[in-house]
Amino acid sequence: MIAKKVQTIIEEGKGISRMFGDAVNMIAELGAENVFNFSIGNPSVEPPEAVKEAIINELNTQKPMALHSYTGSYGYADVRKAIADNENKRFGTNFTANNVVMTVGAAGGLSMIFQILLNPGDEIITFAPYFSEYKCYAIHMDANLVLSGTDENFQPKLDEFEAKINEKTRIVLINSPNNPTGAVYPEETLKKISDIMEKKSAEYGAPIYLVADEPYRYVAYDGVEVPYVTKCCKNAIVANSFSKSLSLPGERLGFVIVPSDIDDYAAIYNACNTINRTMGFVNAPSLIQKAVAKCLDSEVNVEGYKKNRDLLHQGLTDIGYECFKPQGAFYLFMKCPEPVTDDWEFYEMALKHQLVMGPGSGFGGPGYVRISYCVDYNMIERSLPKFKELWDEIQSMK
Ligand SMILES: Cc1ncc(COP(=O)(O)O)c(C=O)c1O
Repeated sequence: MIAKKVQTIIEEGKGISRMFGDAVNMIAELGAENVFNFSIGNPSVEPPEAVKEAIINELNTQKPMALHSYTGSYGYADVRKAIADNENKRFGTNFTANNVVMTVGAAGGLSMIFQILLNPGDEIITFAPYFSEYKCYAIHMDANLVLSGTDENFQPKLDEFEAKINEKTRIVLINSPNNPTGAVYPEETLKKISDIMEKKSAEYGAPIYLVADEPYRYVAYDGVEVPYVTKCCKNAIVANSFSKSLSLPGERLGFVIVPSDIDDYAAIYNACNTINRTMGFVNAPSLIQKAVAKCLDSEVNVEGYKKNRDLLHQGLTDIGYECFKPQGAFYLFMKCPEPVTDDWEFYEMALKHQLVMGPGSGFGGPGYVRISYCVDYNMIERSLPKFKELWDEIQSMK
């Protein structure tokens, strides 16, 4: 018999599992070219050539056991230093290797930080719509995920946020650029969030940490600035990865930045060493740590995603759909058109037109669907007539 907690997590993930299952079945039945699969967030832009060269170079120049041994659970010291130096160069910060932990993706980093900071019954506040896995990470820790609302541009409603903080709040979790909305939080908003947190920390006599989940930091469009949280917020910890910035999601490499000036820095940083290991990660993958450290100045070319965003957003808006223009990441969060305001009903109708999208209620955004546009440009072009057929069908219901 499986554990009750696991049953709850499986229950939480049912919607997403169903969507993936529907896509797989439909592809098996109709062929991939006849299914418009917008359900998955797998990068579609190739990794920079520098990554391949760095991997080959490491394999050709290092002794195998220098590349494939356990690294120590913080990760290689020279790699952590390279990452600290790169953050300092890019953002004017002042980190050292002792502010960096190599992790199994941003997801592994978040899980590690949650385990270090949370006691059962503690609360994590995040802004909805949100990345659905957060709920599962919280359940793993016997913590509660508390949702705080956003406005029509998916920016945090700060009054509501302030009202939701209480003596159990330990973490405020932000994700900008955001999955599933594509919103980016400006510096002014981050500063206000931090001010509120500081005020509430003082009121309740315990630190509240801002955890920034940032795998999409480098996927931003039109010159929009993605502020560096440790520079404008107190008690900020960053979880980042190379899953999107270098298109390496399967390599499972990320890092956490624990700045020296946060409350209880030493205790938290020391705990990372034990917890990263004892969660079963042991250490972040070794060869890719060494290789990525040699290409920290590289990034994927986001032009492809931007072209996709522009085509999709314009195409859907021209048809009549209501959708926020994403500022970053590679998802578009579209409102279900009246009178079909239930996102699962809309999902079912869309399936009949071979369109597979993510129902928004799984992301804390009922009445919307998430469209992942990390796909072939050509697929988006071919899908637009299908979106039009769907629109016409829905209009005829009025
Ligand atoms: C918002 C968000 N956070 C975290 C992750 C996990 O990223 P990683 O592959 O770095 O673990 C994802 C993956 O899609 C994501 O969308």
